Amino acid sequence: MLPYLLEWLSLLGRWLHFIVGIAWIGSSFYFVWLDNHLEPPKIKSDGDKGVGGELWSVHGGGFYHAQKYAVAPAQLPETLHWFKWEAYTTWLSGMFLLGLIYWLGADVYLVDASVRDLAPGVAVAIGAGFLVGGWLVYDLLCRSPLGHNAGALSALLYVLLGAAAWALCQLFSGRGAYIHFGALIGTIMVANVFFVIIPGQKRMVAATQRGDPVNPEDGLRGKQRSVHNTYLTLPVLFVMISNHYAMTFGHAWNWLILMAFVLAGALIRVYFVARHKGNASPVPAIAGVLVLAAVAIAIAPRPRAAAETPVVDTATFEALAPGATANFDDIVKIVTVRCASCHADVPTQPGWVSPPGGVVFNDADDIVRQARDIYEQSVEAQIMPVGNLTHMRDAEREAIGDWFADGAPADWRQ
Ligand code: HEC
Repeated sequence: MLPYLLEWLSLLGRWLHFIVGIAWIGSSFYFVWLDNHLEPPKIKSDGDKGVGGELWSVHGGGFYHAQKYAVAPAQLPETLHWFKWEAYTTWLSGMFLLGLIYWLGADVYLVDASVRDLAPGVAVAIGAGFLVGGWLVYDLLCRSPLGHNAGALSALLYVLLGAAAWALCQLFSGRGAYIHFGALIGTIMVANVFFVIIPGQKRMVAATQRGDPVNPEDGLRGKQRSVHNTYLTLPVLFVMISNHYAMTFGHAWNWLILMAFVLAGALIRVYFVARHKGNASPVPAIAGVLVLAAVAIAIAPRPRAAAETPVVDTATFEALAPGATANFDDIVKIVTVRCASCHADVPTQPGWVSPPGGVVFNDADDIVRQARDIYEQSVEAQIMPVGNLTHMRDAEREAIGDWFADGAPADWRQ
């Protein structure tokens, strides 16, 4: 019952995360676009009021006229809309998912003994430490004198992010490392909103209400952080979908691949932001695409050696007869033949270049450790093998069900 409940929490959490993430990134894209399309006000009295730019648009059968004040209006309107809950709920739902999937399930999804044999609690503490520590270092750098040099700061941040990516990939499973990297960037983005942009806006609003001049430092600092957020959006979205692509996180150079995607995402965003402003040079976009092409070539699957194919000889494998009594050896054979043709480091199933979802059943250890997932996918839900391409028999599903019901031991009936 508990796993079923957790599955629901995961489903609802993911749904929410997706929805609020769209709302956040969508409004962020919109405001960047709006800012970059503003034209000087056409009517002189608007300019006199302090309007610095305006934009006309049509959407959903209505005409909209947005005006941006150079600093602030002389008098604030009664209703002023803030954009913050999109960011906060994205972070909260993201942390909920991280906790539910990667921290509660640390032994399966976060720790990979072949990378580093960490105790689950230690792994979770390290993961959380990266999120907090990453923000503290980033925030300190932005506030330091270096913060005034946008180019140098961006270059240093890229190097530090690279170091974090490398370190995470030395500590966690590829998936776990990637998702913590994404959570690190996402945390920085949301903390920028929570600790810098919104407080600054509150001070600006309060100053306007008092009739005091607005401190331009608040505007500048908010701008610096929101520029960073703009260029981090595409990288963070890559990480969120990356767990479907084991060819990235499962590769020996996974951290380099990750940083290549960060670079490509930022470059492509640079192009789009410049394009909003008119005459954009296509160079950043082309550079971004070239980076991706280079990654694609670098990680292309090589012709594989015969020794890398699964341990069970599929030629002599006999399907389990209905009613036959199976033991653990049979379970290993069944999973190897019916599942590991796709779920292996080097899949043998035609059309599969990397293990789907990063799930691998290379040996008996892998099978015992992931007994629950095997059971859920192939017995309970019966959605694996995909399309039953490997012709799994009902008797084999029953054998896995019996094995799981007996606690999925490695010496079952032996
Ligand atoms: C023909 C290829 C193929 C075979 C054979 C196959 N799978 Fe899969 N498996 C997939 C694909 C595709 C996915 C989806 C990955 C994704 O969601 O990105 C997947 C995902 C999974 C997942 C992860 C599900 C999740 O939601 O995280 C598990 C666990 C799994 N398979 C178990 C099995 C088991 C057990 C078998 C054998 C009974 C099996 N698979 C056979 C292709 C295959």
